[in-house]
Amino acid sequence: MELKLDPWGAVHVDDYSKLFVEFGISNFDQILSELENPHPYMRRKIIFGHRGYEPVLAAMQKHEPFAVMSGFMPSGRAHFGHMMVMNEIIWHQQQGGDAFAAIADMEAHAVRGISWERCRALGINEYILSLIALGFAPREGSHIYFQSENYSMRNLAFELGSEANFSEVSAIYGFSGETHISHMESVMAQSADILHPQLKEFGGPKPVVIPVGADQDPHIKLTRDLAYRMRKFLVELRGDYISIRGKAASPELMQAAEEALKDLVAGKVKRYEEHIDLTDIQISDDTGLAALQGTIDRLIINLEIDHGHYGFMPPASLYHRFMTGLTGGKMSSSKPESHIALTEDPKEAGKKIMRAITGGKQSLAEQKKLGGEPDKCSIYEFLVFHLSDDDKELLELDAECRSGRRMCGTCKKDVAERIERFLREHQQARKAAVDMLPEFGIKP
Ligand code: TRP
Repeated sequence: MELKLDPWGAVHVDDYSKLFVEFGISNFDQILSELENPHPYMRRKIIFGHRGYEPVLAAMQKHEPFAVMSGFMPSGRAHFGHMMVMNEIIWHQQQGGDAFAAIADMEAHAVRGISWERCRALGINEYILSLIALGFAPREGSHIYFQSENYSMRNLAFELGSEANFSEVSAIYGFSGETHISHMESVMAQSADILHPQLKEFGGPKPVVIPVGADQDPHIKLTRDLAYRMRKFLVELRGDYISIRGKAASPELMQAAEEALKDLVAGKVKRYEEHIDLTDIQISDDTGLAALQGTIDRLIINLEIDHGHYGFMPPASLYHRFMTGLTGGKMSSSKPESHIALTEDPKEAGKKIMRAITGGKQSLAEQKKLGGEPDKCSIYEFLVFHLSDDDKELLELDAECRSGRRMCGTCKKDVAERIERFLREHQQARKAAVDMLPEFGIKP
């Protein structure tokens, strides 16, 4: 079956390694060892891939500015799949990042036809309260917003629209002559969601990471492209010299770049019509040269901003695996039996667990003899994703299941109890979150 990532369709990704080869997503494994205190999702390979996370990691480690941003379409109930994105936002905020959470009401209205009133109610009750209950803190530099009310973002969406044309977005999203213009606008809104933390009013260009499910990758790729197109220079390391190429940069900007570079580096600054080469740079090793390239890019970005441009850095992304639905297949907001909502009655949630599809065998005797398959079990997955913070415990449960010592009935009862406890606590915290809404500028 051909693998297709479609933000508005159903995606079933059964082999995540294909995403590395076919889509150019990077394997998170290569970065994992550099994190001192990785999130459990990272440690457990639930976060499996990324694009361009390195600058985010570097900023985090050097205590330099960075941000995390993601969004939620208010089209139904928030479930444990959405909670993963929430937890990833919160974790990056706790690592010192500015945090942005969008309620994508423009998208829900344009693409799903959901009324503004309902978008607002779902946005607050399903997403925002849970986000706050899980730990999103009211801090300077952190924002929860509705797309329709964020005019910095909307103005940027309009600007971005002049860098993307119809053929391009049609090729990416399969748009046709029948596609509504508002649907297309919601695509630019999402790109603007992703880039607006880098606007001057939010502290200017910085590494920003977007945690999402792999279905959102087309948006990420497009937005990384748009970020690049908004730049006025391309700064590249080419062997032993650095090339600074103008992209329709004005003569004044070219002039300013030339002067700034002459002040910064010992070496030859050679100015051509539309580009500048730095040669004979006196630096002892290659890492020094790469670092210098970074410094120069930063300098050029600042110049671009001084001249009224954006100087965006390409946004990074993190991809997590989707949870399997309790009924098999993908967990989906539109299939109540497949998921457990964060606002679900705890007893009802327990019952859904008891009815869920496991990796068990047809009969008890067969299971005792052959053992179960935890890697095909939606219940075991709940433990790995959400309900056990103890890696050793998971390994033990896995072994007990495979060897036929642990039966599905016992396991389900255990997980049902854990989920009921979790939901009771979470729903308690949601009640407290209501009082915090004004701190985020949201009228309850
Ligand atoms: N399109 C996303 C979804 O369907 C929601 C979204 C809107 C989003 N803006 C975003 C996600 C910015 C990540 C970043 O769930």
